[in-house]
Amino acid sequence: MYKREGIQNHILSFIDFSKASTFLDIGCGKGDDLIEISNRTCKEAKLYGVDAKTKPIEFARMKTEGDCRFTFDVYDVEDGLKFKDGSIDVIISCNVLECIIDKKKLLHEIHRVLKPDGKIIMAHFDWDTQIFNTLDKKLHRKIVHTYNDWQQPWMNNCDAWMGRRIPGIFNETGLFNGNVFVYVVIESEYKEGFRGYSLINEEFKALVEKGIIENSEFELFKNQMIQLEKTGHYFYSINLYTYVGQKK
Ligand SMILES: C[S@@+](CC[C@H](N)C(=O)[O-])C[C@H]1O[C@@H](n2cnc3c(N)ncnc32)[C@H](O)[C@@H]1O
Repeated sequence: MYKREGIQNHILSFIDFSKASTFLDIGCGKGDDLIEISNRTCKEAKLYGVDAKTKPIEFARMKTEGDCRFTFDVYDVEDGLKFKDGSIDVIISCNVLECIIDKKKLLHEIHRVLKPDGKIIMAHFDWDTQIFNTLDKKLHRKIVHTYNDWQQPWMNNCDAWMGRRIPGIFNETGLFNGNVFVYVVIESEYKEGFRGYSLINEEFKALVEKGIIENSEFELFKNQMIQLEKTGHYFYSINLYTYVGQKK
């Protein structure tokens, strides 16, 4: 796993902790963003996390055991959000919207459960902004674009261009007043704990295991990264686009 303090600080920088005390993370995974929110908010805060997968939620529950501010639930948000109208101050969601088939329905649900003046912070990588420096452009295009377009078994849907599409999807609903911000991940080190490294060694490796790319292509790509790192030419980058909207 890679460290994501930069992304986390970017997302949480849009929260006014002096005003908000009820938070929901849609597609919270292991709950890392909610846990960071818990470090910045008050003792009376309520922190809700929802995810379709059981394993990350079990992990999140284990990590937050004993802190009664947290509530985690497992369900598919395509079926709606199990919260009362106007009950949440801030909703965050990172890298989830591409998986959702009926995006407008989810946005209507977000609008419904937010308090008047509640805030949505919807962040998403635009996967096709993902770049490595490499010695072989053709191989880069093949592997990186194949990964970007890979609909993994746990995803109802996928879209490598989700980042650039978020503003339009929100604008079309007319439910929020918002702006888009960008966080650019830039890495010059190829080693454990970094996003580019984990992408290659976990995600691209999974493409080989699924028979989507050849092991020889994967090894060639990986060895080029090791070579580039040694000569100071290693470079990885991706853009995270964040829509920050106020409920109308
Ligand atoms: C790429 S992960 C992001 C996790 C976390 N938000 C983060 O930024 O580290 C996407 C998460 O969304 C969840 N997810 C995808 N589709 C979902 C759905 N329809 N309902 C609920 N959760 C969903 C997945 O199970 C997964 O944990």
